[in-house]
Amino acid sequence: MRRSDSEGRAEKARASGGRAGAPEARRTGGSARKGGSEPASSRSAPALFTIRRSGVHGKGGFALQRIARGQRIAEYTGEKITWKEVWRRYPDDDRDGEQNHTFLFEIDDRYVIDANHGGNASRWINHSCNPNCVVVGEGDRIFIEAKRTIRPGEELNYDYNIQLDERHTPAVKRRYLCRCGAKNCRGTILGKKR
Ligand SMILES: C[S@@+](CC[C@H](N)C(=O)[O-])C[C@H]1O[C@@H](n2cnc3c(N)ncnc32)[C@H](O)[C@@H]1O
Ligand SMILES: [Zn+2]
Repeated sequence: MRRSDSEGRAEKARASGGRAGAPEARRTGGSARKGGSEPASSRSAPALFTIRRSGVHGKGGFALQRIARGQRIAEYTGEKITWKEVWRRYPDDDRDGEQNHTFLFEIDDRYVIDANHGGNASRWINHSCNPNCVVVGEGDRIFIEAKRTIRPGEELNYDYNIQLDERHTPAVKRRYLCRCGAKNCRGTILGKKR
């Protein structure tokens, strides 16, 4: 499945379903610290956000301070691998309903960022149909930036705009149910079929 950034780049974070022949994106606990928060900080700057339980889904990212519109919040880091390597690492074994946790962000048709390896806190940021962040691609790097001013305590989110190769039928949309709670929630984390 694909999520598009503001430049039309596709992001893949396979959850369930996915395109034909592709592995499912499985979300398990990943490598984030369990139980507590995971501040997203660098050596030089105080953390802009932290990871904790979200009312939307699982864990999410929450602003620790006011974040200005346009401010770069995080880079979506991870290991850059080919799609071939994605298939090798995450074969389609969802038959038993197992929910493994993978965080895959497509760079292009050839490369993907696998945030299961070298990923940071940004991989926990949830989707919203009325997001306060946007995803910006620069070469083979992906950044998350504030779309508007974000107040401390607000949950960070961006529009996953997931694109499946299969048709986005009502049943498929239900599989990708959205719980963002926005007034304009479209009911699914899938995007409009391009
Ligand atoms: C990369 S994970 C984000 C972190 C996730 N909350 C967790 O704890 O694993 C992406 C997955 O989170 C879930 N998710 C994110 N935003 C959502 C939303 N607005 N409504 C429902 N589920 C959401 C979906 O299952 C999606 O595939
Ligand atoms: Zn929504």
